[in-house]
Amino acid sequence: MKKSKRREGFSSGLAAFFATLGSAVGLGNIWKFPYVVGDNGGAAFLLVYLICIVFIGLPIMISEFYVGRKTRKNVMGAVQELSSKKGWSIIGIIGILSAYFVMFFYSGVAGWVYSYVFKILKGDFNRATAESVQQQFTNTTLGPTVPVIWQIIVIAVVSIILIAGVKNGIERITKTLMPILLILILICDIRALMLPGVKESFTFLFKADFTQLTSKGILLAMGLAFFKLSLGMGTMVTYGSYFTKKDNMFGTAAKVAISDTIVSLLVGIAVFSAVFSFNMVPSTGPGLLFMTIPLVFTKIPFGKVLLFAFFVLASIAATTAFISMFEVLVAYYTEQKGMSRKKAVILNAIVIAAIGVFSTLSVSEGAVFEQIKIFGMGIFDLFDYISSNILLPLGGLGTGLLVGYVVPKEDIKKELSNNGKLKVEKIVDIYYFILKYVTPIFLIIIFLSSLGVLQKVIKLIS
Ligand code: PHE
Repeated sequence: MKKSKRREGFSSGLAAFFATLGSAVGLGNIWKFPYVVGDNGGAAFLLVYLICIVFIGLPIMISEFYVGRKTRKNVMGAVQELSSKKGWSIIGIIGILSAYFVMFFYSGVAGWVYSYVFKILKGDFNRATAESVQQQFTNTTLGPTVPVIWQIIVIAVVSIILIAGVKNGIERITKTLMPILLILILICDIRALMLPGVKESFTFLFKADFTQLTSKGILLAMGLAFFKLSLGMGTMVTYGSYFTKKDNMFGTAAKVAISDTIVSLLVGIAVFSAVFSFNMVPSTGPGLLFMTIPLVFTKIPFGKVLLFAFFVLASIAATTAFISMFEVLVAYYTEQKGMSRKKAVILNAIVIAAIGVFSTLSVSEGAVFEQIKIFGMGIFDLFDYISSNILLPLGGLGTGLLVGYVVPKEDIKKELSNNGKLKVEKIVDIYYFILKYVTPIFLIIIFLSSLGVLQKVIKLIS
C-alpha cells in the first residue's frame, strides 16, 4: 500500500493562535490602518470598521477556520471537497488571485520597513524634523534600485522560512516574536501620550463626525476589515487546516480579532499624536507611518534604540503576515498541482518579485512607473484597491455563503464543538444566524452602495 504523505500542522492551540495572530497583525495595523483612517476622517470611519469586524469579519473568520480544519486542505481543495458543484471553485480562484495581488504591493511596503531598520542604524534620523522625515521617505521609495533590492530581500527571507515548513518555519517565528511586538507598541504609546497632540489624536480617533463618512469610505472600511483579519484569501482556511482537532475555533477567532484591533488602535494613537504634534495632516497617504514614528521617538532617552526596535518588530510583523499569504499559494501548488514545496516557493517568489517591482516603483513622485494610471489609479493603488476592496470581500462572501447555505448545520456544529467536547451550542446558533442573514446582507449592501446602485434605487422608490 502506498503510504500517504503526512501533512504538517501546528503543534498546539497556542501555536495556532500565535500563527494566526502573526498573520493578522502586520503592515495592516502598522502602516495601512493609520493612513486609511487618516484619509477617511477618523472616528466615524473607525466605527464602521469596528462594525465590519464584528458582523462580517468574525463570522467569516470562523467559517474559514471551519472549512480548513474540516477538510484539512488548501483553499481550492477545501471548497471542492465541501461541494461537488464546480461553481464554488470561484472561492479558490479568488483566493489565489488576491494572494498574488496583495503580495505584489505588500512585498514593496515590507521592503521600505526593512530598509528603515538600516537607515536608523546609519543615523539618518538622528536629528529628525517633520521635513527631514518626509524627505527620507521620498528617498526610500523613489528608486529605482534601492526599494527594489529591499523588496527582493523581503521575498527571499519569506521564501527561506517557507521552505523550512509549517512547524520549523511559521510556528517558531511567530510564537516568540508576537508578544515582543506588543510590548514595543505599548512603549511607543507611553511616549506618544506625552506629546502635545495627544488630545487632538483622541478626538480624531474617537469623536465621530458622520458628515465625513461617504459610501466609498464604508467600502474602504469593509476592505480594511478583510485585509486586517487576513480574510477572503484562503489564509485562514489554510491555517485552519493546520489546527489540531482540539483547538477551540471560536476562542481563537475572538482572541485574534480583539488583539488585532487593540494593536491597530494603539498604533493609531501613536501615529496621530505625532501628526497633531508636528503640524502634519492625517490624510498624508501611504507614507504616514514612515513620516510620523521617527518623530515620536526623537528627543527622548533611548529614542534611537526604541525607534530601531520598533522597525525591527514592524519588519517581523510584516514578515509573518507575508508568510501567511504566501502559504496559501504554497499549499495550493503542492497539494493541487503536486509540486514540491521548494519549487512552489521559488517559482512564485520570482513571479511576485517580477510584477511587484512595478507597484513599488509607482508610489513616489517622479518614480519610474508613477505616470502609469489604470482606472485613474497608479499601479500600487490599483493592486491594493482590487484586492482589499473587491477580491477579499468577494472571496469572504463566497465562503460565508458556502458554509451558511450549502454545508449542513449539523456538520458545522460537530466540527466547531470538537465533536461535542466544547459546550458551544448557543454560540454556534448565534454565529450561524449572523453568518446566514446578517453578514451577506451587510456585505451586499456595502457593495451596492459603493457602486451607487443603492442610491439610485432609493431615489426611484421615493
Ligand atoms: N492581515 C495582514 C496585515 O494586516 C495582511 C494579510 C491580508 C495577510 C490577507 C494575509 C491575508 O498586514
